[in-house]
Amino acid sequence: MASSSDFKYNFVSHKGFNLISGTHDPVEVDAICNYEVRDSDVFVVTYPKSGTIWMQQILRLIEAKGDLTSEELNSDQVPWIELQGKGKEFVEAPSPRLRVTHLPYHLMPHALSQKKGKVIYVARNPKDVLVSYFHFHKFATMLETPKDFNHFFEKFIRGDVYGNSWFEHTKSWYAHQDNMQFLFITYEEMIQDLRSSVKRISSFLGKNLTDAQLTEVVKNSTFKNMRVIPQANYEMVPDDLLNHHNGKFMRKGTIGDWKNHFTVNQNEIFDQIFQKEMKEFPVSFVWDIK
Ligand code: A3P
Repeated sequence: MASSSDFKYNFVSHKGFNLISGTHDPVEVDAICNYEVRDSDVFVVTYPKSGTIWMQQILRLIEAKGDLTSEELNSDQVPWIELQGKGKEFVEAPSPRLRVTHLPYHLMPHALSQKKGKVIYVARNPKDVLVSYFHFHKFATMLETPKDFNHFFEKFIRGDVYGNSWFEHTKSWYAHQDNMQFLFITYEEMIQDLRSSVKRISSFLGKNLTDAQLTEVVKNSTFKNMRVIPQANYEMVPDDLLNHHNGKFMRKGTIGDWKNHFTVNQNEIFDQIFQKEMKEFPVSFVWDIK
């Protein structure tokens, strides 16, 4: 059995953000902030496990007016900007360039702050993010398998994960919203009313969909349907990146799974930290943090 010292991927702290060796190249990441941004560019920004794959599906469907006949994968239609080798592709790609990223604000193109392009930030209850991330670590080969839930809980609280601190990620993007064309939406809003959420997203993107097209987008982006759409559910990702025997990308897709994982003590600790970190944050989240 491999010990943790055999683990081939390491975090490399770069300008205050953990990159993953073999997955990200610091030189390429540094180039991103000087990229020219077109008005038609769209960047979905998420902390890991907040519904990135979901937004990839929604964006591709809005672009195709609900049509799902293309067999291209979501991750090819709406790729990560920060992955090794993707920079050159971004610079040369035809418009519209739809991208996702987990990068913090300070590593993204400076042009965003001149209202170039559009940014959609998706936030999710960090307790559910933590749980989803714990399970994800068990099958993502580039992330070290946690010893147990408590060990991972502590790492997440310390920000010793890819994405670093959930609190910093969320606060720093939100703090710069007035400089950008920016839409803030939560995973929970999307769960509660997917149709209204898709309407909000498409109107932010200036895309007018007919009712029938909207219905198609919503139908093809429900959890139940995405689970069986091969372009959408990441089952095509090779085993050397995701060990599909150990988990599913489309795992539960629910709100409140943290209640099945957190102890009373962990919950109290988390609430205290949340209240301290987020007390100045102007948004009241729709989730019930208790
Ligand atoms: P769970 O592990 O809680 O199920 P990301 O893409 O940022 O890594 O986020 C993955 C999380 O989003 C997983 O959460 C996944 O199930 C959930 N998800 C993906 N598509 C979804 C959908 N259509 N509806 C609800 N949740 C979805």
